[in-house]
Amino acid sequence: MEFGEVVRSRRTTREFDGRAVPEAAVRRALEAGLRAPCNAHLKSWQFVLLRDRDQRRRVVVAALKARDVTDPAEIERFVARFADEELKAVYRRSLPLQQAMMLAAPELLVVCYKLKPLAECRTLFELNPLASVWMCDQGLFGCTYTPYDAAGLKEALRVPAGYEIAAVIPFGFPKAPPTEAEREDLDARFHVDAW
Ligand SMILES: Cc1cc2nc3c(=O)[nH]c(=O)nc-3n(C[C@H](O)[C@H](O)[C@H](O)COP(=O)(O)O)c2cc1C
Repeated sequence: MEFGEVVRSRRTTREFDGRAVPEAAVRRALEAGLRAPCNAHLKSWQFVLLRDRDQRRRVVVAALKARDVTDPAEIERFVARFADEELKAVYRRSLPLQQAMMLAAPELLVVCYKLKPLAECRTLFELNPLASVWMCDQGLFGCTYTPYDAAGLKEALRVPAGYEIAAVIPFGFPKAPPTEAEREDLDARFHVDAW
């Protein structure tokens, strides 16, 4: 697929059809990811693919404590903190699926990276290892989930000291064809010589 088309067709997907993802497709996506630029050539990423369904359930439910928020009143209490209607809409769509997308996806990938503990980072430069971990192509779609508290997940997966968890990514073939995202108004964001 032509690169511009890949960019235009990329969407976050939280519901998948039942098809398995070929091992070669997983490897190809990760190999492409490993070609992403990184600071100081520090390719510190490690990937944990959670294939075993029992292990996955333990990790997602007990260690990560991801849960689906399905009670409309609880969802409305949560989105009340945002003024932006589009952001509210994203949470209304996504909150009911936070656990389900990880349990039901054909594949679940945990992306780890080396970084000093986040609480000790004082500058954006120190967050550089985080800047290039996101991925997807080949008709595969997924959802980047950034754990708020990854301590339990690190323990359950035996992630060594010095590594953090950047993202948990359920992925597979989408249940329904994703629609192209609405175009952002570039003119409202583009400045020449000064803002
Ligand atoms: C860093 C990052 C963290 C995200 N965290 C979550 C998450 O925890 N749960 C979720 O359902 N979606 C998450 N998303 C997906 C966003 O909600 C999604 O990218 C956004 O709504 C735009 O939709 P699009 O990707 O289809 O263009 C995350 C995306 C990024 C890039």
